[in-house]
Amino acid sequence: MSVEESIGPAQFETALGIAPGKLPAHTVEMLRQANLRYARTTPAEQAELEAEAMERVKQGFTVVGEQRAGIWRDAWQDQLDRFEAAGFAVESLNPAFVDGSVVLRWQGGYIRSLSDKFELRVIEILRDAVFRLFLADVDSLYEFGSGSAFNVAAYAKIFPDVPVCALDWAPAAVRIAELLREKLGMKVRGERFDFFNPTKDMKLGPGAGVFTFCALEQVGPRFGPFLDFLLEQRPRRVVHIEPTVELYDPSSSHDRVAIEYHTQRKYLVGLLPALRKLAAEGRIKLLHSKRLNCGSRFHECYSVHVWEPA
Ligand SMILES: C[S@@+](CC[C@H](N)C(=O)[O-])C[C@H]1O[C@@H](n2cnc3c(N)ncnc32)[C@H](O)[C@@H]1O
Repeated sequence: MSVEESIGPAQFETALGIAPGKLPAHTVEMLRQANLRYARTTPAEQAELEAEAMERVKQGFTVVGEQRAGIWRDAWQDQLDRFEAAGFAVESLNPAFVDGSVVLRWQGGYIRSLSDKFELRVIEILRDAVFRLFLADVDSLYEFGSGSAFNVAAYAKIFPDVPVCALDWAPAAVRIAELLREKLGMKVRGERFDFFNPTKDMKLGPGAGVFTFCALEQVGPRFGPFLDFLLEQRPRRVVHIEPTVELYDPSSSHDRVAIEYHTQRKYLVGLLPALRKLAAEGRIKLLHSKRLNCGSRFHECYSVHVWEPA
C-alpha cells in the first residue's frame, strides 16, 4: 500500500532550490488551496511504468522544429476560438496538454496524483513563485514563445502596471494577447517572433524581464540566434523554465526515460552549458539554476535558469 503524501511549502522550496521560508506568501497560499496530494508508486509499479513509458517512446513521437509551425498555428487558432467562445474567460487559456495523465514525475520517481488538475496547479504555483522571486523588479516583461498567453495573463494579474509583451510565431497566439488588452483591459500586447530568426529592430530596454516557459524546448540545438539576441539586448533579467537534458542522471532508469524522450523529440540541447560558459567568461551572471525533479510521465519541463547580463 502506498502512503498518501502532499507537496507543501517545504517540499516546494527544496524542489525550486530556494532557502526555507523564502517562498512568497501568496505562493504558499496557492499551495494550500491546491492541496497537492499524491501517492508514491511501489518499486514494482515504478519499474512497470518506466518500461511502459520507454516502450511508448520507442514507438516514436513527433519531432520539434520548423516543420511544426503549422501544427502550432492550428493549435493556437483552436485555443483562440475557445477563448472567444468562452467570452474571453482567462481560464479557457489553460492549454489542453497540461490536463493530462495522473501519473507524474516527482523527486526521482513516479507518483499518482490524487488532487484535481495536479500538473496545471504545479505550473500555476511555480509560475507565481518565479514571477514574484525573479521578475518583480522589471519595468516590462517579454514572454517569448507565449502560446495561449496564460502566463502573461497571470503576470499581468500580479503586476497590472507593468507592460507585458507576448511573442510567438503563431498568429493566433499574438491575437490572444491582443484580446487580453482589448477585452480585459490588461496591459498586454502581442507580437510575432521567430526564435530561429529574431527581429533586428526590437528594443527590449535595460529594465526588461524576459521569460520563456517550455518554449525554447522547441528549438533543439538552435537556441544560438535567440541567445545572441538577448546578449545584444541586455535586458535586466532572463528566466527560462525549460526541460534541461543536461540535468538528468543517465545512471537512473527513471531519468533514462526522460533522456530518451527528450532526445527522440529533438528538444532543447546545450542551453545550460552555453549559459555556464558565458558565466565562466564573466559575460553573464547565472543567478539560479535548478531542476525541480517534477514533470509529466515522459519528461520534465521544469528546470529554472535565471541570469543577467554582467
Ligand atoms: C509548448 S508551447 C509553450 C507555450 C507557453 N510558453 C506555455 O507555457 O504554455 C511552445 C510554444 O513555442 C512556440 N514556438 C515554437 N517554435 C517557435 C519559434 N521558432 N519561434 C517562436 N515561437 C515558437 C509555439 O508556437 C508554442 O506557443
